[in-house]
Amino acid sequence: MFLYSEKRGICYRKKLGYDSRLITRTIHRVNMTRIAILSDIHANLPALEAVVRDIQSRHIDTTVVLGDLLSGPLWPVETARFLMRQDWVMVAGNHDRLLVQGDNAAIGPADELANASISPEQRDWLRSLPPFRTLFEDMRLFHGTPQTDTAYLTETIAHGRMHLSPLPEIESRLDGLKQRVFLCGHSHTPRLIRLSGNTVIINPGSVGLPAFFNPSPEAHCVETGSPDARYSILTLTDREPMVEFIPVPYDHQSAADRARENGQSSCAAWLRTGFVEQEDRP
Ligand SMILES: [Fe+2]
Repeated sequence: MFLYSEKRGICYRKKLGYDSRLITRTIHRVNMTRIAILSDIHANLPALEAVVRDIQSRHIDTTVVLGDLLSGPLWPVETARFLMRQDWVMVAGNHDRLLVQGDNAAIGPADELANASISPEQRDWLRSLPPFRTLFEDMRLFHGTPQTDTAYLTETIAHGRMHLSPLPEIESRLDGLKQRVFLCGHSHTPRLIRLSGNTVIINPGSVGLPAFFNPSPEAHCVETGSPDARYSILTLTDREPMVEFIPVPYDHQSAADRARENGQSSCAAWLRTGFVEQEDRP
């Protein structure tokens, strides 16, 4: 029987007999980087805190966040305070952009609480986040697609639902970019797409909002089917990138209660179940 444990780039291989004290140990040095990928937090601080506790047990080198940080009827001020303390690599999402562009007519129900309550310092911090970033030279980060924060990279809307797009469509949306790894959010749906040449697209799902109804550009539902906070871990070695998708249970009832107290009963149902209620479906 062999057990593997990982400690910052070193794998220990242990051969266990009947007496576990008798161990043959071989040490393999591996060139390895582990990246925690978070997206679409949507002001859900208890979900974010649960994810961070999980990350702390998994030997992560870098954490990245792919936008939509503070919108939602939950804890925008507290979430901003938490995020501003981190040394994570972050990009802005479409909702973050709405909160800093100064157009109150564009602020929808999802953005009202954050727009009314975050401090000028927190808004300035949000404004400082870029829409795109390149990390480790070969990894491109953005919220939606390489072109826009309001379109899905790997999904198509049809018949009131969001579906996985055909591979040629997904590839065409990358617009000829040649990075090895593309990290995106926006659809709140965990995805791993492997393209030719060891290229991967990873969407970690949403930390803070497991389902939603969106009236535009065409009314549709997104549902993950459970209330868990979701994120993923990417392990880069000399071989093909490896990806884990991790659902993290947290006190989702407290988030649902908070949404209802703030007048958003549909959002409360999304947070409680990971589904859109029947009466809200298109
Ligand atoms: Fe989002």
